[in-house]
Amino acid sequence: MQPLASNGYSVFFDNDFAQLSDFLQKGDYSKVFFLTDTNTSVHCLPLINEALPWLTNFDIIEIDAGEENKNIDYCIGIWKMLLDFGADRKSLLINVGGGVVTDIGGFAAATFKRGIRFINIPTSLLAQVDASIGGKTGIDISNIKNIVGTFSTPDAVFISDVFLASLDRRQLVSGFAEIIKHGLIADEAYYKEIQSCGPEAAGSAIIRRSVEIKNEVVTQDPHESGLRKILNFGHTVGHAIEAFFLDRKGKSLLHGEALAAGMICEAYLSYKHHTLSHEDLSQLSAYLFSVYGSISLLPEYEHVMLDYMKNDKKNVNGQTGFSLLKRVGACDYNQYLNDEQILESFAYYKQTASAMKIAGSKS
Ligand code: GLY
Repeated sequence: MQPLASNGYSVFFDNDFAQLSDFLQKGDYSKVFFLTDTNTSVHCLPLINEALPWLTNFDIIEIDAGEENKNIDYCIGIWKMLLDFGADRKSLLINVGGGVVTDIGGFAAATFKRGIRFINIPTSLLAQVDASIGGKTGIDISNIKNIVGTFSTPDAVFISDVFLASLDRRQLVSGFAEIIKHGLIADEAYYKEIQSCGPEAAGSAIIRRSVEIKNEVVTQDPHESGLRKILNFGHTVGHAIEAFFLDRKGKSLLHGEALAAGMICEAYLSYKHHTLSHEDLSQLSAYLFSVYGSISLLPEYEHVMLDYMKNDKKNVNGQTGFSLLKRVGACDYNQYLNDEQILESFAYYKQTASAMKIAGSKS
C-alpha cells in the first residue's frame, strides 16, 4: 500500500516493518529509544525488533499500561530515563503502543531538550485510526484529558495489522468507535459499510479509509483553528464520561466506550439544536447501543460531568463548544450549548437505553 502524505511526514502501511527498517537506516539518528508499556514490550516490540536485526544501539523505556498513567509523573520518568541513557538532540524516540504511549511519548519527545524526533508505531486499533495521526501529543492532569500538550509532528507513522491479533475484543470494539465517528462526520457510504462488517472484520482497507479521513482533516487544519474540531464529535460528552469513570477507581471505561455514549448524546443535540434528522438519530442510537451497550448515567453523576465539560478546550466565554452532525457524513463545529440543553441529551440517552431494554452494564 502506498504511504499517505501528512503534514511533512508519511503514514506507512507496513505490515512486515520493511519500510520502517529502510526509514531508520536512511535516517541520521544518533541513537534509538523505544517507549513501550508493560503489554507492548511483551507482545509488540519483539515483532518489530525481529524485523530490525541490524539495529543494536537502542534502549527501551517501559511505562505501566493504562490511561491513569498518562500523567506528569510518568512523563518525568521518561525524561529521566532519556537523560540516564544519554539521549542527545539527534536521538529518536519510537513510541510503540496505544494512544497513551503515543500521546505521552510524543509529548516527552517534543519537550525533551526542546524537542527530539519521534516515530509512532500504534498497536491498538484506536491509536492506528486516531491517536497516532495528526501530531497531537499530551498528558492528563487530574483526569482532565489531554489538558497539557503540544502539536508536534512525528517523523513518520508505521501502521501494521499484525498487532490487532493480540488485542482483546473489548480493546478492538473501543477502537472501532473512532472508525464509526469518521463515517458519521465525513463519509456516509463508509458509515454504512462499517456497520455491515463490524469491529472484528476491521482490516487494512477499513483502517486505511479511517486514516485517510483523519489525515484529510488534519492536513487542512493542523492546529485545530477550525475544521479539525469536527474530529471531536462525541468527545465533549465522551471525555467528561471517561474522566468521571476514571476518577471512580476500578470502574474505568475505555475511551471508545465513553465515546460511543458521547456520540449518542451529541447526536441527540445534533437533532435538537442542529439539522440531523430524527430518522438518522434513531438509526445511529440503535446501532451504537447494539454494539456498546449502555452506561449508567445516574442523576447524581450528571453535574459532575457538566463540571468536567467546563474544561473542554473548545469552550468559549463559558459556553460549552460542540461539533454537531449536519447529517450522517457531515459535521459542523463551533456550536455552543448550555447546561440545560446538555442535560436533555443525558435524558435522551437514558430513555432510549431503557426503551431498547439495554441495561446499564458498564458502570
Ligand atoms: N483526536 C482528535 C484529533 O486528533 O484532533
